[in-house]
Amino acid sequence: MTDNQQPGEFEIKPEYKKKSIRSYVVRGGRMTESQEKAFNRWWPQFGLSLFDGAVEPAQLFGRQAPLVLEIGFGMGDSLIYMAEHEPEKNFVGIEVHPPGVGRLINNAGKSELDNIKVYMADAVDVLEDCIPDASIDRFQLYFPDPWHKKKHNKRRIVQPEFVQKLRPKLKVGGVMHFATDWEPYAEHMMEVMSEAEGFENCCGEYQFAPRPDYRPITKFEKRGERLGHGVWDVLFERKA
Ligand SMILES: C[S@@+](CC[C@H](N)C(=O)[O-])C[C@H]1O[C@@H](n2cnc3c(N)ncnc32)[C@H](O)[C@@H]1O
Repeated sequence: MTDNQQPGEFEIKPEYKKKSIRSYVVRGGRMTESQEKAFNRWWPQFGLSLFDGAVEPAQLFGRQAPLVLEIGFGMGDSLIYMAEHEPEKNFVGIEVHPPGVGRLINNAGKSELDNIKVYMADAVDVLEDCIPDASIDRFQLYFPDPWHKKKHNKRRIVQPEFVQKLRPKLKVGGVMHFATDWEPYAEHMMEVMSEAEGFENCCGEYQFAPRPDYRPITKFEKRGERLGHGVWDVLFERKA
């Protein structure tokens, strides 16, 4: 229990298993009061635990529907937008940053969304322990930490092993969607995906994709556009 925690209250702490290389830094979560309250109010409805093991998506949402999984949703605004605009789909988000999770569940609660669930956990662990094979229709990873310095490049989440860990989780015909505003990372994503067994580029060999309509433009992206920065979307389909 933390100092501010009342007995019976949920402990606001990301879940992860031990590992040597992580794609994120566990940041001290400076949370607003409303984000903190959101955990008590909304976590029981939207939250999932890594330590509860494998989930059955149809059971989780009480319906059979296409499943979208997003890793690293940050403050969650684009994920909320998508859950609102694609009500016929089920959404699972995974994020380690507690303030972002707090904001997302607060907004999901206010908007009375019933097609979204979240893990506050390391996505690699969630993929390994919780997500069944051939369950995902669309996988999303938007603006992942670029780890600019060469010596940190190994911390980038997009790596051949990560892609092969994800592959069985996608349905055959399911889509892998990455976006980044850091050109060297875009090239790295393209190389990793082009060489990955079982995938085919949706736009032709080595081609970046136009932004699909379902991915909203974030504030940060709009600012980047004004400053003349690029954004690269990478879309691959699981073929085998
Ligand atoms: C640069 S931010 C981008 C956030 C958001 N997608 C956006 O476009 O604004 C990357 C996010 O990924 C999260 N992240 C990185 N590695 C992760 C992992 N292994 N599991 C869960 N979240 C992760 C970080 O906490 C961070 O919030």
